[in-house]
Amino acid sequence: MAVNRNPEIKYTQIFINNEWVNSVSGKTFETINPVTGKVITRVQEGDKADIDKAVKAARLAFKRGSVWRTIDASERGRLLNRLADLIERDVDYLASLETLDNGMPYKRAVHEIRGGLGLLRYYAGWPDKVHGKVIPADGQVFAFTRVEPIGVCGQIIPWNYPLFLLAGKLGPALATGNVVVVKPAEQTPLTALYVANLVKEAGFPPGVVNVVPGYGHTAGAALSEHLDVDKIAFTGSTEVGKLIQIASGKSNGKRVTLETGGKSPLIVFDDANIDEAVVVAHETVFVNQGQTCCAATRLFVQDTIYDKFVEKSVELAKKRQLGDPYETTTQQGPQIDDKQFAKVLKLIDTGVQEGAKLLAGGKRWGTRGYYVEPTVFADVKDSHTIAKEEIFGPVQSILKFKTLDEVVDRANDTTYGLAAGAFTNDVNKALKLFQSLESGNVWINTFLAVKPQTPFGGYKQSGFGREFGEDGLHEYLEIKSVVFKVDEKNS
Ligand code: NAI
Ligand code: MG
Repeated sequence: MAVNRNPEIKYTQIFINNEWVNSVSGKTFETINPVTGKVITRVQEGDKADIDKAVKAARLAFKRGSVWRTIDASERGRLLNRLADLIERDVDYLASLETLDNGMPYKRAVHEIRGGLGLLRYYAGWPDKVHGKVIPADGQVFAFTRVEPIGVCGQIIPWNYPLFLLAGKLGPALATGNVVVVKPAEQTPLTALYVANLVKEAGFPPGVVNVVPGYGHTAGAALSEHLDVDKIAFTGSTEVGKLIQIASGKSNGKRVTLETGGKSPLIVFDDANIDEAVVVAHETVFVNQGQTCCAATRLFVQDTIYDKFVEKSVELAKKRQLGDPYETTTQQGPQIDDKQFAKVLKLIDTGVQEGAKLLAGGKRWGTRGYYVEPTVFADVKDSHTIAKEEIFGPVQSILKFKTLDEVVDRANDTTYGLAAGAFTNDVNKALKLFQSLESGNVWINTFLAVKPQTPFGGYKQSGFGREFGEDGLHEYLEIKSVVFKVDEKNS
């Protein structure tokens, strides 16, 4: 691992048609280093006019008879693998850049980018293996389905895992022959722009991938409202997810898939391997500064082991190393920006005021940047705000339960349904749990077990549609039914 504390910023423009251009308005915006709160660089600010240009370029690349529409499916796989090779070649640089722009520890950034590579390589194997069926339909007919790309797909990416989530959106869209306009988060545009250049180097035809940095309420909204965009794939807040559905309904009824976060329960029974459960519970709530959609934010611990479990959790949280994210010993960096920093501290205050017991952290760490101490609350009640709202910060909330039936009802009593998990060595408990938890992902004796091969997504207000795995491909495909009348004389 070669850390580069001052990675050169190579690309700050808008990427359309395999070319770098300035914004139509001439405006730029700042991207900030959350360690210091200082400006890293200014980036061209895309808005409606730039989105229009990108959508036009994408549409042209998708035209009947275009290079992209006529190359072999296996060639799309080769291009995706080539893109993965280039990201792998530049992983140290990309991780250094991600750390600078996002604040995540460098080691974590390398891990994140390797996760993204796993997704790209998984999808690189699919293009010539996803196909329709021959169907024995009624009557003298020959019937089959053909799967086809949807068309121009807008992809709106958040700031918490910028490169991983970009790879998870590019992989299935490009494997299935779509064209994309990516809108990275305004807080973290830099790695997506660098990857855009790798897309060109890999040999993708112009217009297949376009990247327009800019704000959500301008560039993001323009993409969601666009009459010539066929689909939006979004990851971010539930609130904005709903705005995207409205924009779709008000414009052209474009397809929408949403991944909008959660309040994920992790349940620990007294028959489990407790020491392991303490460590996993800690890691899966504090990882990435707590900025993970499927973090273990409601930790239910059985009453018989509760006090001991809380004690060990507090000990671990107090040991967590905060600091310079480029240091290999650093486990926690700053929150992404001043807005998230203020939101997290306010929710911690609310926790104290509503009567949860604060046992570790609770304050700002240091005097510069957006660091928050690893915070542990015990005696958290289901009705507390910190047990209901997504905090998206380094805050562990520990709740107490007695019986399985009770805890299942309480775990399900949320508007979210992204992930849930349990630690138990009793197979009957595990069976009951994975059937009754209302959640798109259930993890037993592990947590945050996100894999390229398994579909990921939410029940309820955590969104709809699935990313990753084979199911993730179908979110980027139309199904065409073809029926031929067969001449009876010839059958
Ligand atoms: P956000 O939902 O505003 O941002 C996510 C993406 O959506 C960004 O690219 C943003 O530019 C874009 N966006 C914002 N408004 C838009 C609009 N009107 N139309 C189209 N695109 C738009 O999230 P934000 O404000 O950064 O974070 C707020 C909270 O959302 C966090 O505290 C956390 O609870 C949640 N969140 C969840 C994420 C997840 O992984 N599911 C990721 C990021 C945030
Ligand atoms: Mg930044």
